[in-house]
Amino acid sequence: MARWTAAEIPDLSGRSAVVTGAGEGVGFHTALELVRHGADVVIASRDRGKGEAAAARIRAETGRAGVEWRALDLGDLASIGRFAADRVTADGGSRGLDLLVNNAGVMALPRQSTADGFERQFGVNHLGHFALTGLLLPELLARPGARVVTVTSGLHRSGRMDFDDLMGERRYGRFSAYAQSKLANVLFALELHRRAGTAGTELVSVLAHPGVARTNLARTGDPLRGLLVTLATLTAQSAAAGALPSLYAAAAPGVSGGDFFGPDGFAERRGHPTRVSPAARALDRDAARRLWEASEALTGVRFSAFDRGGVHP
Ligand SMILES: NC(=O)c1ccc[n+]([C@@H]2O[C@H](COP(=O)([O-])OP(=O)(O)OC[C@H]3O[C@@H](n4cnc5c(N)ncnc54)[C@H](OP(=O)(O)O)[C@@H]3O)[C@@H](O)[C@H]2O)c1
Repeated sequence: MARWTAAEIPDLSGRSAVVTGAGEGVGFHTALELVRHGADVVIASRDRGKGEAAAARIRAETGRAGVEWRALDLGDLASIGRFAADRVTADGGSRGLDLLVNNAGVMALPRQSTADGFERQFGVNHLGHFALTGLLLPELLARPGARVVTVTSGLHRSGRMDFDDLMGERRYGRFSAYAQSKLANVLFALELHRRAGTAGTELVSVLAHPGVARTNLARTGDPLRGLLVTLATLTAQSAAAGALPSLYAAAAPGVSGGDFFGPDGFAERRGHPTRVSPAARALDRDAARRLWEASEALTGVRFSAFDRGGVHP
């Protein structure tokens, strides 16, 4: 994978993909390259204006029509349910989905709640993607070898799961809540990989992180924090470069479930995609199981297609 670039993405004609949060940033460039290489992509995000403008720009840049925006608010279980239900065909069948990129995210927010009362960073970054993946599971299992790419951050390494206070009701730090949500992304993706294998399915669950990429993720209304973020991102790479680990995980041949890709440069901040390792804490299977059970209880979403050995009715 030496100095892998998006030019090496194979032909994806006939493949369908959903990329969350693809109206801008890393997700936009992920969607752009998938469409350029032949995939049909749904941009799933909240902001219609941003999403439809992104789809129009991708159509103009690639000359392909295979991209559309669909409303999805990962902070609202009802919206996630509608997004999944809208994908069912008129005859009640499944369209099939080859690729789900769990990319959308929010970072370092002051404590806020989602529509369902979850702390927003944990709710959007982890619980929303947990529910979305579970509801799209029958579609993913309809396509052998379908991939789920979950986008985490190098900051998962400083994350701690506080199972007694997952929502930061007793103690909340905007950065520790972000790190916890990104650790949850890794625990989730690796547990999904294990459960897919136990159920005898070919679903491939993998991880990517973009290093440090210049996007609006750290947008903040606070001028001092804004200045600090600007300084911290002076050495950041472009959002297009930040999308390469996601694209490698999504489309490169030879990717196996449980793999994790990030940039190959100093401290994994920038560079070309390479295999990277999760923090030791992210390999804790008990924590992964506990997070899974808590996520099922909180969202009400169960991955029941796995119980049927991956076969859905
Ligand atoms: N940039 C970096 O340096 C960096 C570093 C490490 C990890 N990451 C990770 O990379 C991923 C992409 O981040 P980015 O830097 O590209 O950020 P970004 O430019 O801010 O894009 C994030 C996207 O997430 C969407 N989003 C936010 N809340 C949502 C919700 N409730 N429902 C649906 N979509 C929602 C936003 O779209 P709408 O507002 O339209 O919903 C936005 O387009 C994130 O998972 C982030 O944690 C980024």
